Amino acid sequence: MNKKILVTGGTGYIGSHTAVELQNCGYEVLIVDNLANSNENIVSQIEKITGIRPGFTQLDLCDRQATLDYFQKHSDISGVIHFAAYKAVGESTEKPLMYYQNNLGSLTNMMEAMASIGCKHLVFSSSCTVYGQPAELPVSEKAPVKKAMSPYGNTKQISEEIIFDQCLAGNLEAISLRYFNPIGAHETALIGELPIGVPNNLVPFITQTAIGKREMLQVFGDDYNTPDGTCIRDYIHVVDLAKAHIVALERLSGENNLERFEIFNLGTGIGYSVLDIILTFEGVNGVKLNYRIAPRRPGDVEKVWADTTKANEVLGWKAELGLEAMLRSAWKWEKFLQNKEI
Ligand code: UD1
Repeated sequence: MNKKILVTGGTGYIGSHTAVELQNCGYEVLIVDNLANSNENIVSQIEKITGIRPGFTQLDLCDRQATLDYFQKHSDISGVIHFAAYKAVGESTEKPLMYYQNNLGSLTNMMEAMASIGCKHLVFSSSCTVYGQPAELPVSEKAPVKKAMSPYGNTKQISEEIIFDQCLAGNLEAISLRYFNPIGAHETALIGELPIGVPNNLVPFITQTAIGKREMLQVFGDDYNTPDGTCIRDYIHVVDLAKAHIVALERLSGENNLERFEIFNLGTGIGYSVLDIILTFEGVNGVKLNYRIAPRRPGDVEKVWADTTKANEVLGWKAELGLEAMLRSAWKWEKFLQNKEI
């Protein structure tokens, strides 16, 4: 069996962790990335962890001809895990066209190139943002997709529709994985999240505040309808998340694939508030965080956590690592970054 897998956006946060897990499972990994939001040195970091250097090509999937040429050159790719995309919610509201052109253009070029070599298996990186504020919690895959709150969220919704149509046309079998909130880093602290500039997401902001790069963490709102008033999310360890991609690939190449396009929620099924995260971070790492309550952040949903039954039962995948492991690994990674340039 051919086990050559292309990971687009493979030097990014979730992509790099997935490349490691793929190699651990014996897959040959090729990475393409335009390095818009990541660093080529991550390829060496992956090699340090696994002992194997993945193939790397700097490629912008928005370049249609270069993408077609790449796939012709690697016509034995048996499956693609597609991470390459812009992901900053705020930026997407300021530069919507940049998000639509990049996130959708790269996807359609890539699927055209897949079809040109007869590669039919795609795992797509989607987001729980498609549910908005769900009427029922925990939220299952059957919940309706709500009007997106940002161009970023909209690109995820439209991408799923494009992939669905390509599956209907008989050209593709795909699994879309809707991530809840991925946090943490690899246990070796050799790879992790590398935000450029001021982080938007909670955990990188916490670790940067704890290490002294940021003066103070703002907790966006404490007047929500939740037990402590702060927003609730389903945080999932990035390594657990990475492992789900391998299971999804295996499902696509197995005999038991019943539908051409399937969607799975990836979370732990447990919701934690912002204050839960802060207190647990302080507790497990023995550090004090400078934080204050600030006004709500526009566009934030109040609470969301996953019904993971479908992923548990159909994929046979379950998140194994708890919040303490997530926050310990995130801190270990921040300390690694303090001592080393990546
Ligand atoms: C959102 C999307 C997610 C998307 C991600 C991309 C939802 C439910 N989630 O994540 O699908 O992939 O953006 O970036 O739409 N917070 C603070 N202070 C901070 C930063 C965050 O209090 O400095 C709070 C937020 O208000 C929120 C929680 O921490 O309640 C998590 O925020 P963040 O890490 O940015 O993720 P989401 O907004 O949930």
